[in-house]
Amino acid sequence: MNIYSNPDLYDAIHNGSNFDIELLKTVARSASGPVLELASGTGRLTKCILDLGLDYNGLEQSKQFLKVANKRHGEKAQFFLGDMCDFKLKMKFQFIFIGFNSFLHNLSKYDAKNCLKCVNEHLEKKGRFLLSIYIPDPSFLYRDSNTLHPATSFFDYENSQCRVLETNEYDEETQINKLTWYLEKDDQITEDKYFFSMRMYYPHEMDILLADSGFKIEKKIGDYDGSPMDAESEMQIYVCKKN
Ligand SMILES: C[S@@+](CC[C@H](N)C(=O)[O-])C[C@H]1O[C@@H](n2cnc3c(N)ncnc32)[C@H](O)[C@@H]1O
Repeated sequence: MNIYSNPDLYDAIHNGSNFDIELLKTVARSASGPVLELASGTGRLTKCILDLGLDYNGLEQSKQFLKVANKRHGEKAQFFLGDMCDFKLKMKFQFIFIGFNSFLHNLSKYDAKNCLKCVNEHLEKKGRFLLSIYIPDPSFLYRDSNTLHPATSFFDYENSQCRVLETNEYDEETQINKLTWYLEKDDQITEDKYFFSMRMYYPHEMDILLADSGFKIEKKIGDYDGSPMDAESEMQIYVCKKN
C-alpha cells in the first residue's frame, strides 16, 4: 500500500506534531499576500498560516489526503489536486513552502528541477520560498536492511496502541532510499505494509539546484529552532528569494 493512501493512520502518527510550526510562522509572517504549501497532506500546517491572517492554498497529490484537508479546512482554505513537479495555478504567491521532507519525494534531479521551476513561476517578485529536508544520515541509510527499526513513537490508532517499524534499502547510484513500514498494534506486527521512497539530496546539490532554478538563498537553517546550518546540523532548511 502507498503510505499516502491512509490519512487516518498519517494523522494518528502525527497527532499534535508541531515541531516546525514556530519556524514556519516566523518566515510566513513577513508575507503580505497569499501562501502556497506544496504537498500539503491532510492540512496539518494550514491553521498556523490562517492564524496569521494569510490566505492559505495547498497543493497535494493524494486524493485521500486532499479530501481530509478539505473537510477540515475547506471553508477557509483552498486545496488543489496536483503534482508538485508539474502544476499551473492561476495565481502567484508571496510565500511558498514545502516542509516535512516532502521535497524528497522528487525521486530524480529532473523532478526536483521541475518542482523548483514551478515554484519560481508561482512566486511573486518579492516573495519568499522555504524548503525543509533532512541532511542524509549514513547511520540511517546504511542500516541492516533485514532488521526492523522503530520509525515512530507509540500512538493511538483504531483503539490500539501502535507504532511503526521500518526497513530500508539505500541505492547509492540513484540516491533513492526505499522504505517499508510495518504497523505494530498492541505488540503484534500486522499484515499492513506501506511503501514509499525518498531521494537523498546533499546540501551541495541543493545549493546548485536552487541557484540553477533562479533562487538566491537568504538563510540556511540547520534546525527548527532557527539555528544556522553547521557541521552538526540534521536539517537543511532554506529560505530563498528570486534571483
Ligand atoms: C510527509 S507528508 C507531508 C504532509 C504535510 N505537508 C505535513 O507537513 O504534514 C508528504 C506529502 O507529500 C505528498 N506528495 C508526495 N508526492 C507528491 C507530489 N509529486 N506532488 C504533490 N504532493 C506529493 C504526499 O501525498 C504527502 O501528503
